[in-house]
Amino acid sequence: MALVEVKVPDIGDFKEVAVIELLAKPGDTIKVEQSLLTVESDKASMEIPSSHAGVLKELKVKIGDNVAEGTVIAVIDAAGSAAAAAPAPAQAAAPAPAPAAAAPAPAAAPAAAAGPIEVKVPDIGDFKDVAVIELLVKPGDTIKQEQSLITVESDKASMEIPSSAAGTLKELKVKIGDKVNIGDLIAIVQGTGGGAAAPASAAPAPAPAPAAASAAAAPASAERTPPTAALPPHEPATPSGTLPHASPSVRKYARELGVPLEEVKGTGPKCRITQEDVQSFTKAVMAGAAQTKAAAGKAPAGGGGEALGLLPWPKVDFAKFGAIERKPLSRIKKISGANLHRNWVMIPHVTNHDDADITELEAFRVATNKENEKSGIKVTMLGFLIKACVAALKKFPDFNSSLDGDDLVLKSYYHIGFAADTPNGLVVPVIKDADKKGVLQISQEMAELAKKARDGKLSPADMSGATFTISSLGGIGGRYFTPIINAPEVAILGVCKSQTEPVWDGKQFQPRLKLPLSLSWDHRVIDGASAARFNAYLGQILADFRRVLL
Ligand code: COA
Repeated sequence: MALVEVKVPDIGDFKEVAVIELLAKPGDTIKVEQSLLTVESDKASMEIPSSHAGVLKELKVKIGDNVAEGTVIAVIDAAGSAAAAAPAPAQAAAPAPAPAAAAPAPAAAPAAAAGPIEVKVPDIGDFKDVAVIELLVKPGDTIKQEQSLITVESDKASMEIPSSAAGTLKELKVKIGDKVNIGDLIAIVQGTGGGAAAPASAAPAPAPAPAAASAAAAPASAERTPPTAALPPHEPATPSGTLPHASPSVRKYARELGVPLEEVKGTGPKCRITQEDVQSFTKAVMAGAAQTKAAAGKAPAGGGGEALGLLPWPKVDFAKFGAIERKPLSRIKKISGANLHRNWVMIPHVTNHDDADITELEAFRVATNKENEKSGIKVTMLGFLIKACVAALKKFPDFNSSLDGDDLVLKSYYHIGFAADTPNGLVVPVIKDADKKGVLQISQEMAELAKKARDGKLSPADMSGATFTISSLGGIGGRYFTPIINAPEVAILGVCKSQTEPVWDGKQFQPRLKLPLSLSWDHRVIDGASAARFNAYLGQILADFRRVLL
């Protein structure tokens, strides 16, 4: 038995980096240069390879440990593997920037330059012909000094290349897939000009030479004065903040499978995406249990349509035409937007418009509210509409169904969703078993659910199981609109503000209160005649609610 210790090789300026993944376990047969573990600083991750071949006897570190050059990470029984010994541990490993590489030289900071500044690939140590795998900014973005511009990756490490200057990004000179080397031009930044106090050594040289493989490991940066004075009042979007956390090998694995890493949920430490996460994502997509955004026709933020073979979304520098403010979409808007987009694209919608005469019903509603003033329960038109829709759904069961492949699933329960407007976006709470409840109980539950919605306190159970949805804009205004079906339902009723209109009764015009109805339906399940009948029947019920009892 020839036991050899495997140590962390020279990993440049990366001091005390955290172990985030163990890539081998005791008993494994290890090849020379095979990665044993992944370490990570705040801007780069790299795999530490074995300096010897043999059987892994022991791993001396665990996830979360901090390691530095010389730390023993494993013991290998190298018996019989002499031929496979690496030339020298430091070289065998060499996944990292050269020692001098991780500290950007102060001279690389033309922070106060006003003209165009060329940003080049700094000294990235032993990395040659590394591939650009991510663009973290786009032309027009406001860039802070040291903000990461692109991510490059070798087969063992990935790292972000920071900007040596602050300003507005004029042009990115590289695209994904390009290979870059030290000194290659990657971007042109229009300096912010004059406002920032640059260190004495800073020079508006067109070719700053930051000796940084990764500004990440650059404590030196803290000594600089950040060029904030010249920055515009709002923070630029920082795509790097949304970058998925994954080791180079996992990134490579995801790329080979065509898995969009940003859509994979990481289960590793600090939400790091592991190889198993990529596998689970792939399995879920293959089993039809999940969909990539591209497959769902969901455009990536700021883009769109490419997945459908459409023209790319127009990219406009809005700031060129006037002041703008950039605001991220709320979580609810992002989720509901993706769902609405899928439903609009995938369901062949048709909308029938009609009017219901609610003159008597409105008088009854007002009288009921007067009688019930003390109870605190207020009945709105929506409460009656829910009840009326249940009656129409019972008469036209196809409207209370869902498509499942070639089957239509007809439901014998009547759970009615209603769209509720909240400060954070649209949500759809559900009145369960509306067929078994009176209008007063429905109104009370609606008020409670609408309050929960506004307070952001709806539970998933409050919003699931709907068989049909009503979207009422009656309290706001408008005449008709095209509501989008809430899949997997097959129809939705939109309601607008009622208005008193003159209606000819054969002898004279009578003032009648008319409620505009807009019924959208899925043409795969329902046809125009059924939709017209549904609306007509709904109108009859609303005109004389006694029909609900028939
Ligand atoms: N015609 C005329 N007036 C109407 C009406 C109609 N169709 N529907 C409601 N109103 C009146 C109500 O009677 C009430 O009047 P009042 O205060 O004088 O009594 C007022 O409008 C406000 O009603 P509202 O609080 O909106 O109650 P609601 O039961 O009609 O609706 C919600 C409750 C939660 C659905 C509603 O507040 C909401 O969020 N609507 C927006 C839904 C939406 O955004 N849909 C679009 C999706 S694309």
